[in-house]
Amino acid sequence: MKDGRLAGIEACVFDAYGTLFDFNSAARAVSGELGDDWQKLSEIWRQKQLQYTWLRGLAGRHADFWQVTGDALDYALSTLGLERPGLHARLLDLYLQLGCYPDVPATLRQLHARGMRLAILSNGTPAMLAAVVRNSGLDGFFDAVLSVEEVGVFKPHPAVYRLAPERLQLTPEAICFLSANAWDAWCAKASGLRVLWCNRFAQAAERLPAAPDGEISDLTQLPAIVCPPPPS
Ligand code: LAC
Repeated sequence: MKDGRLAGIEACVFDAYGTLFDFNSAARAVSGELGDDWQKLSEIWRQKQLQYTWLRGLAGRHADFWQVTGDALDYALSTLGLERPGLHARLLDLYLQLGCYPDVPATLRQLHARGMRLAILSNGTPAMLAAVVRNSGLDGFFDAVLSVEEVGVFKPHPAVYRLAPERLQLTPEAICFLSANAWDAWCAKASGLRVLWCNRFAQAAERLPAAPDGEISDLTQLPAIVCPPPPS
């Protein structure tokens, strides 16, 4: 990044869960029933979901993100002794209706209006991603919604990050990848994309190879970094 800008960016490619869509919103929706346990549930669910993606990748035993998300939820409910009738099904259904973060719609609208190409690159299945995009009213913005199901392995396998330049027909240097999942940001950078870490959760930097090109705290800062300045 030079003078607070990334030059030559032709597309912004976003991670989905945690970056555009609030994965806590599913468990939060049943907080009336679960009380404070909803936060613990959400945290264990998310951590286990990611662990299962990594473990399945290393073990060479891929199953899609819908299966992994359900398995992780099972584990989280069992850990907290919350195995109540219907709760598993309700929470999984809520995962298809996750809300987006408040900064998302206005930022996408602004980038789209300035001619930036937009895409999603996510572990989610095509059906899961279509559901959350539709639910948040973001349908019109994306040129491509890319799922790891196209390559049959989860992030951070380099084959996943290669999907973005391949499918958008751009060089990796012309793509700015955005993720609030720090490990995802680091690994995308190691795979050759340009990367901004959207550090929504004020986390510490990863100790992994290839640090991102820059860090922002939410997406409102993005257009000023990647869009060419208006002619003066
Ligand atoms: C995704 C996960 C990593 O959307 O949040 O790919």
